[in-house]
Amino acid sequence: MGRVRALAGFGAQVYGARARFAWHGHVRRDPVALLQLGPGRSDPYPVYARIRATGPLVPTPLGNRASASHEVCAAVLRDRRFGVSDPDAPPGPGGLSFLEMDPPDHGRLRRLAAPAFTTARVASYRPLVEDTVHQLLDDAARQGSFDLVRTLAKPLPVAVITRLLGIPEEERGPLVRHGEVIAGGLDGVRSLRHARQLMSSSRELEEMLGRVFAARRAAPGEDVITALLAAEEAQVTPAELVPMCTLLLVAGFETTVNLVGNGVHALLGHPDQWALLRADPGRAAAVVEETLRYDSPVQRTVRLAHEDVEVAGTTIRRRQAVLTLLGGANRDPRVFADPDAFDLTRANPTDHLAFSAGPHYCLGAALARLEAAVAFAALAERFPALRPAGRRTRRPGRTLRGFATLPLSR
Ligand code: HEM
Repeated sequence: MGRVRALAGFGAQVYGARARFAWHGHVRRDPVALLQLGPGRSDPYPVYARIRATGPLVPTPLGNRASASHEVCAAVLRDRRFGVSDPDAPPGPGGLSFLEMDPPDHGRLRRLAAPAFTTARVASYRPLVEDTVHQLLDDAARQGSFDLVRTLAKPLPVAVITRLLGIPEEERGPLVRHGEVIAGGLDGVRSLRHARQLMSSSRELEEMLGRVFAARRAAPGEDVITALLAAEEAQVTPAELVPMCTLLLVAGFETTVNLVGNGVHALLGHPDQWALLRADPGRAAAVVEETLRYDSPVQRTVRLAHEDVEVAGTTIRRRQAVLTLLGGANRDPRVFADPDAFDLTRANPTDHLAFSAGPHYCLGAALARLEAAVAFAALAERFPALRPAGRRTRRPGRTLRGFATLPLSR
């Protein structure tokens, strides 16, 4: 059981054991079960509060543990006695990305990708990000009303990460669909049809990457893929490159889309905070941090105990999983005063766990922050009269939280 599979397992529980969840949720009012059911899906935050009130680590219906405590989530994510892979799985990566690997493979592969994502390197991408945002907003400006997701939130991260990786323009079209299919897999496989879609999207992405690898080997560029291909065989095997590039691509756009959408939604729902941003677009970085905390784009992740570990007075047995509810930890009143308020002037804006913590801390954090900050500042400057225009829809799923559509008029 790998990390993504373990995470999917928490979703698959709903489909595989729906009756058991319905029993726990509706009959026993078990808050962890409620999270998987209707109420927790549309608004998980009251459910997180109930989980936190139940205890720092609460049992799940299928015998694992879940936490919405900031202290416990941070401790588990940083504790090297927990990992993302099954401690009993045979060693060596097999088709997995480094998100799903433990030491030593995790560090070896992460170090190869890391130079492109340092804060200093990311700062040099600002002109690319600004040009992209303004071009996209030019399209929005030609329309009276527009869907924020389709017009800005989605195409921005896709354009940026494909440019950084060196994916040519003509290959970008189907990427958005493949990304959505693969990200949907985080919540478990829903049906045979879904399984087939997952397989065909993975295969098409692999074929596309194969074409890009061949092109870059023939004509190296300045991009991340060229740099990865130049690494010695001792550092990365050809079989490791496809899952790694898939991770960089999909992690790059399936999350940032939610940050931009959730941030604009929160701003328009809190006119006083929107006014603060309009008065000073320099506050865009504060909007980014408060959105990451208040309505986290990635709501949960999971760790597996690699030995028996004592956490908050409870023994987690080897191979038991802990569901770390990042979106709940980020509303923990012991860390954030008035946690349900959307407040750009917080004293400790960056104490959230929206990018996780420990060895798997998001590699793209600086890039995501830059893209979203440029987007929020540009919206406030160019469209000060922005307002909701019609029915918004949410993306399905409990791991990623964001909007499928967010219609606005300017
Ligand atoms: C708002 C946007 C984003 C959010 C909320 C986010 C969140 C996260 C989280 C929570 C994790 C860790 C999962 C865990 O601990 O199990 C993670 C890992 C990762 N993220 Fe992001 N991410 C975002 C944007 C990006 C971008 C733009 C990239 C660009 C490449 C990226 C690349 C990665 C990679 C490569 C990892 C794996 C790190 C590792 O396993 O060492 N992310 N992200």
